[in-house]
This record gives sequence, structure tokens and C-alpha cells, in this order.
Amino acid sequence: MNQFGIRPMEVEDLDHALRLSTIAGWNQQLDDWRMLLRLAPAGAFAAVADARIVGTAIGIDYGGFAWIAMMLVDPADRGRGVGRRLLDAAMGAVPPSRPIRLDATSLGRPLYEKCGFEDEATLSRLIANRSSAGTSVSEIRGGSSDVRPLTPSDLETVIERDRDVFGGTRGAVLEWAFHSAAEYAYVVRRDGVIHYCLGRHGRLFDQIGPVVASRDDIAQALVDAALAAAGDRPVVVDAFDSRRAFAAWLGNRGFVVQRRLVRMCRPAESGSCAIGAGEGPLAEFAILGPEFA
Ligand SMILES: CC(C)(COP(=O)(O)OP(=O)(O)OC[C@H]1O[C@@H](n2cnc3c(N)ncnc32)[C@H](O)[C@@H]1OP(=O)(O)O)[C@@H](O)C(=O)NCCC(=O)NCCS
Repeated sequence: MNQFGIRPMEVEDLDHALRLSTIAGWNQQLDDWRMLLRLAPAGAFAAVADARIVGTAIGIDYGGFAWIAMMLVDPADRGRGVGRRLLDAAMGAVPPSRPIRLDATSLGRPLYEKCGFEDEATLSRLIANRSSAGTSVSEIRGGSSDVRPLTPSDLETVIERDRDVFGGTRGAVLEWAFHSAAEYAYVVRRDGVIHYCLGRHGRLFDQIGPVVASRDDIAQALVDAALAAAGDRPVVVDAFDSRRAFAAWLGNRGFVVQRRLVRMCRPAESGSCAIGAGEGPLAEFAILGPEFA
């Protein structure tokens, strides 16, 4: 590679961006990239060398905090400062008043540490190859009594409640997930509280998340309903390791750990990572995915 430059990402770049995420073995489809660019048109960057896209990074402003997604450099061009320049561009595109978060792979973490990110939590990506999972769809259906499909009229309540749990505003992403994979969207209304899960289709597997509930048994019932909808397709769940009972239950459902992620935060200019999330009864058991937070 000769010199490289960083420029805003354009819709025309997305096929090349998809090539990079596919080479890295990631799960994104073109539609995920389209949604990410729609979400952060001013925060999405491409690294270009010799008229080739050699890297990508996206800084998303969710209001309460910012999120860095799709940090990717072509394997042939790594270790030459491309990742660092992309990260600087994505961080520079979000307001300095926001703490910045991301879910780091082991390849990305050393770079993020150098840029002031600190460990905040750990997550495990759990995968189930459904054709070999032990539980049949009918068994699953039997277990979840007051779970029902999420309807368009639930979505408004979900988006409103989600702000407190998530610590930012991701209504556009939840709407998109609902419209592109309605079969994975379920709710439980109990004691005046709406609990919910959504999901997405992927290149390699489908993903269930976010899973937001006040208790383990409700989180499990929501996932069971979504699993029944997945049929034989492989499914992943990115669960917080602090949710031990939930992760152990996923193990009983045939899920195994595929890889670990570290949630990291770079404090806002005020020096704080606090976002005031998690003050209500609800908590996030599993995330939407590391590309969206
Ligand atoms: C993570 C990734 C984007 C880094 O891109 P890169 O272009 O190789 O990074 P850079 O060359 O800019 O490296 C930046 C700094 O981090 C260091 N660094 C990068 N990768 C490192 C590693 N695996 N181990 C130790 N240090 C590393 C470099 O030495 C450099 O330090 P310096 O500025 O003090 O010299 C790239 O490895 C990648 O695409 N990996 C696969 C996808 C992935 O896991 N992305 C992270 C998602 S969270």
C-alpha cells in the first residue's frame, strides 16, 4: 500500500465495506451497512489507498453516549496506522460531551487502550447451531405463557422505555430491526412494565437481541419465543457475562461461547462515563450486536 487517505463513506462504498466485514468473518449483510450509514451519515469513514477501500469506522451519536462501530482494516494493510486514523476520524465526528463506547475484539483492544478507552464490562457471543440444539420448537412454545409477538403499537412504548435502559436513543434501529425481522420481536407486559426482545437476520447466523427484562425468567421466555421462530437457522446471542443465570440457561438451550467481547468506554470531556442508564426495573441481558451497541 502506498499513501492512504480518510474520507466520508458513501453509499457507493458499501459493497466494498461488506467485502471487508466478510473477510473478517463478521455477520453483517449489505442491509446492516446501509442502516449504519443512514444512522450516522456524518460519522462514517472509509480509508482509501490506490483507489481501494482498505478500512472503515463509524461513530454513531446515540444522544446519551456515542458508539464506535465497524472498525475494520483489510488484513493486508494492518499495522500501518490506518486503524488509528479511522478511529480518530470516527471519534472526532461525535460531540465531545459524550462518553464513547464500543465492544472490543482482542485485535482492537490494544489500539483502544492507547486511545483512552477503559474496560467497563465483558460479553460473550453465544452461538447455537439449531439443527443440533436439544430443544424442539414445541417444547419451547410450551414454556412461555404470556409472551406475545410485538405489534406496531407496542413499538412506541418499547422505544420510549428503551431510552432508560440503553442510556441513549436508538428508536430508528429498533424500528428497522422490527420491520426487517418481525418474527424475532416479542413482548411480555407484566406489572405495568413492557419487557421486549428483537432480532436480526445475518450473513452467517441470525441474532437475538436486544433482550430487555426485569428478571431472568422473563428474559428466557422472550428468547425461547424468538428461538422457536428461528427454526433450524444458527442463532447468536451477545450476552453480558454479569447475567450468569441467563448465560447458563442459554448453555442448557444448546448455546456455546464463540468469542468474548470487552465493552470499553472513553470518558466524555467531563471525565465521566456515566449515562444514567439502568435506573428503572429493566436491564439489558443481551445486546442488539456490537455494530449497533
Ligand atoms: C483492529 C484493527 C482495525 C486495527 O487496525 P490497524 O490498521 O492494524 O491499526 P493501526 O496500524 O492503526 O495500529 C494502531 C496502534 O495499535 C497498535 N495495534 C494494533 N493492533 C494491535 C494488536 N493486535 N496488538 C498490539 N497492538 C496493536 C499498533 O501497534 C499501533 O500502535 P502505535 O500507534 O503506538 O504504533 C485491525 O486489526 C482489524 O481490522 N482487525 C479485524 C477486525 C477487528 O477485530 N476490529 C476491531 C473491532 S472492535
